[in-house]
Amino acid sequence: MVRESNANAMQLTPGAKRTVRLKIKRCDGPGKPSYWQSFDVKVAAGEGANIISALQDIAANPVTVDGQRTTPVVWDSGCLEEVCGSCTMVVNGHVRQSCSALLDNLAPVDGDVVTLEPMSKFPVNRDLFVDRERMFATLRRLNAWVPIDGLYDLGKGPTEDPDTQQERYVLSTCMTCGCCLEACPQYEKETDPAKWDESFVGAFAIGQADLFNTHETGGRLKQKRLDELSRRLAPGDQQLVLTRRHQVRDQTLAVFDRTFRVTWALAILVGLIAVVSLVSALLALGLERRREYATLRALGLTRSGLTAWILLQTTGLSLIAAVLAVPISALIHVTLSLAVQPRAFGWSVPLSLDVTPWLAMLPLAAVAGLLAGLYPAWSIGRRDPAPQLRSA
Ligand code: SF4
Ligand code: FES
Repeated sequence: MVRESNANAMQLTPGAKRTVRLKIKRCDGPGKPSYWQSFDVKVAAGEGANIISALQDIAANPVTVDGQRTTPVVWDSGCLEEVCGSCTMVVNGHVRQSCSALLDNLAPVDGDVVTLEPMSKFPVNRDLFVDRERMFATLRRLNAWVPIDGLYDLGKGPTEDPDTQQERYVLSTCMTCGCCLEACPQYEKETDPAKWDESFVGAFAIGQADLFNTHETGGRLKQKRLDELSRRLAPGDQQLVLTRRHQVRDQTLAVFDRTFRVTWALAILVGLIAVVSLVSALLALGLERRREYATLRALGLTRSGLTAWILLQTTGLSLIAAVLAVPISALIHVTLSLAVQPRAFGWSVPLSLDVTPWLAMLPLAAVAGLLAGLYPAWSIGRRDPAPQLRSA
C-alpha cells in the first residue's frame, strides 16, 4: 500500500476548485477487450477528495471529455479507510488502495491527469473491479485460520510473548488486497481455477501461513500448511524452511560474531609474534651488551639484581611501545572509518574513540614485557662474568 505524504502536497488554497482528468482503462466484462476513456471532475482543494469520490462523481454523470454519454465506471470498495483492500487498483502506474489516494496530493494542479487501471494479475470483472478469488482459494488451501472445536466458550486463548505479538501483528494486517501480487514479477495472472493449486502462491500466502503457524492453537495445522507451501514453492525433495525476520537478524549477527572471532585469533597471533620478536631482540641485546653486564656483575651486581635490571628494561620498552601504539592505532581507526570502509563497502563502523581498550592495553603490555624478559634475564644471568671480561 502507498500512503500519500502531506509534506509532499502542494500548498493549495482551501476550497479553490480545479479540474482533474481521470483517464480510466475500462472493460465491459470478463474476457472483453480493454479501452480507455477520460472524464473530468471538479475538485475543491482541502476537502479530502479521493479516487473513490471522483468515481462517484463520474457515476452520477457518466459523460466523457468528448461529450459522449457512457456507462458508469465500475469499481469495488468497502471500508473506505484502507482496511478491506477491495479498492486496490493501479493509480498512475503504482498499485495501491484508491480510497486513500487523495487528489490534492495526486493532482494538485488544474488539468492534472490521473490514470486508473485494474490490477493486471487478476481477471477483470468489469472496469476497475477485479476478481481476487484466487487469493481466497489459496488461503483455503493453506488452512489459513485457527482451528476451533465448535462455537461454545473455549475459555482463555493461549498467551503470547510481546515479541511474537509484534511480529504476528504486522502479518495480521494483511487485507488480501493483492498489491504484493501485482508488484511481484514471479506471480503471473492465471484465469483457470484448475491451475491455481499448482501456481506460485505469492508473498501474502507465505505471511499468512507464518501468522497461523506461530499461533499456539493455529500451529496445530502447521505441518499441513508447510506441506502445501513446500509443494508449491519447493518442488521435488527440497525442504522448505521459513526463516522469520528476527531469525535472519540472529543468523546475520552470528556470522558477524564468527568473523570477529577470527579477528581475535589474528590479534592473539600478532601479540605472540610481538613477544617472540621482543625476546629475540632482547637476547641479541644481551649478547651485544655481555661485557657491560659482566662489568656490572664484577662490580658487585648480584644475579637477581641483573635479572631485575633486564626485566625493568624489557617492561619499560614494552610500555613505551604501548604508549606509541595509541596515536598510531587511533590514526588507523580514523583512516579505516572515514576513508577505507566507505569506499570499499559503502558503509562504515561508527567512529568512536573509547579510551578503555587503551587503558587495558598498558597493564597487558607491562605483563608481556615482563614475560618477554624472563628468558633473556635467565640466560644472561647464568653466565660467568670472568671469561666474558677476559674475551673482551
Ligand atoms: S501482504 Fe500483500 S495482500 Fe496482504 S496487505 Fe500486504 S500487499 Fe496486500
Ligand atoms: S475501500 Fe477498503 S481499503 Fe479501500
